[in-house]
Amino acid sequence: MNGYKVAIVGATGLVGQEFIKVLEQRNFPISSLHLLASDRSAGKKIFATQQEIEVKETAPESFEGIDIALFSAGAETSRYFSPIAAQAGAVVIDNSSAFRMDPKVPLVVPEVNPEDIKWHKGIIANPNCSTIQMVVALYPLHRVNPIKRIIVDTYQAVSGTGSAAVDELTAQVKQVLDGQNITPHVYPHQIAFNVLPEIDVFLDNGYTKEEWKMVEETMKIMHADDIAISATCVRVPVFTGHSEAVSVEFSQSMSPDEARRILILAPGVKVLDDTAISLYPQPWSAVGSDEVFVGRIRRDASHPGGLIMWIVADNLRKGAALNAVQIAEELIKREWIHPREVGK
Ligand SMILES: NC(=O)c1ccc[n+]([C@@H]2O[C@H](COP(=O)([O-])OP(=O)(O)OC[C@H]3O[C@@H](n4cnc5c(N)ncnc54)[C@H](OP(=O)(O)O)[C@@H]3O)[C@@H](O)[C@H]2O)c1
Repeated sequence: MNGYKVAIVGATGLVGQEFIKVLEQRNFPISSLHLLASDRSAGKKIFATQQEIEVKETAPESFEGIDIALFSAGAETSRYFSPIAAQAGAVVIDNSSAFRMDPKVPLVVPEVNPEDIKWHKGIIANPNCSTIQMVVALYPLHRVNPIKRIIVDTYQAVSGTGSAAVDELTAQVKQVLDGQNITPHVYPHQIAFNVLPEIDVFLDNGYTKEEWKMVEETMKIMHADDIAISATCVRVPVFTGHSEAVSVEFSQSMSPDEARRILILAPGVKVLDDTAISLYPQPWSAVGSDEVFVGRIRRDASHPGGLIMWIVADNLRKGAALNAVQIAEELIKREWIHPREVGK
């Protein structure tokens, strides 16, 4: 069959399952699909690309003959297996944080910096979910009116942590309603009916690592080291869909109408902004969609060059699996990858 030999590492996880859905929905040209996970899932059968496929334990020899390896199995797994996969000739698209800030690895959002894909040396990094949706919405504005400063507050869904966190929120909601005591496992505190201003570990500068990822990754993707960025990342009891309140200071003043006009034409963006009918993006309705939704666009009353907006996207889709598959599609479209011959 014509197409590419594709491996998904972490195929049993939330992002891995979304990978399968996205590849199928976009008719990605696959000649064979290889599902990899840890030894815990070896032997499990998953129905994908119209057939039952057995999940295999990830091993160095898993990547022989693979053209494209989509990784979503945590940074440790990526750090160990990605160089092995690249050495075996696969192009790795990695969803973990392992290589994102490595200067030898491109960090790509296809709507923003597709040309960076070209200089990859076997590994391409997929950015953090919160960063992806923010840059998709801000980059089209930055191109016409350079951004000087961004302040972002996130409201991040538990599926961003993985399947154990989804199970934890489900269980805790029931426990709270039944009046039972809660013992948190995934998060340091109860997440049901609560919000936690702690995502990833705390750094010496008082920020969390998630917040710092938004700062560094935004600059790398937009090639804009001079933008001042500050983030506060908050976990909320939402299953899927990250939301962000973003304050942007531009070089020159920009009206909300001009921003709307630019964003309506921007790739990957959908403007939902009519306060008269309470139309604005919501995580609930963003689930399963490819777009980054933007609304509540208004002047910043505290700054003449500022706009404020509300940005929402499906963190498992544009925030993870979809963005990675779009990178693979760019590789093919620009003829920067070709399927290897069978047996090679
Ligand atoms: N969730 C998001 O919104 C999101 C967004 C961007 C990036 N990411 C990144 O994507 C990765 C996975 O996230 P997730 O939400 O899918 O997590 P998840 O639901 O917990 O799934 C983790 C996956 O990794 C596999 N895995 C764990 N240890 C492994 C090992 N030693 N070798 C091979 N496979 C191993 C698991 O396999 P078993 O089933 O065998 O345990 C499972 O398939 C993480 O790096 C995360 O940071 C997630």
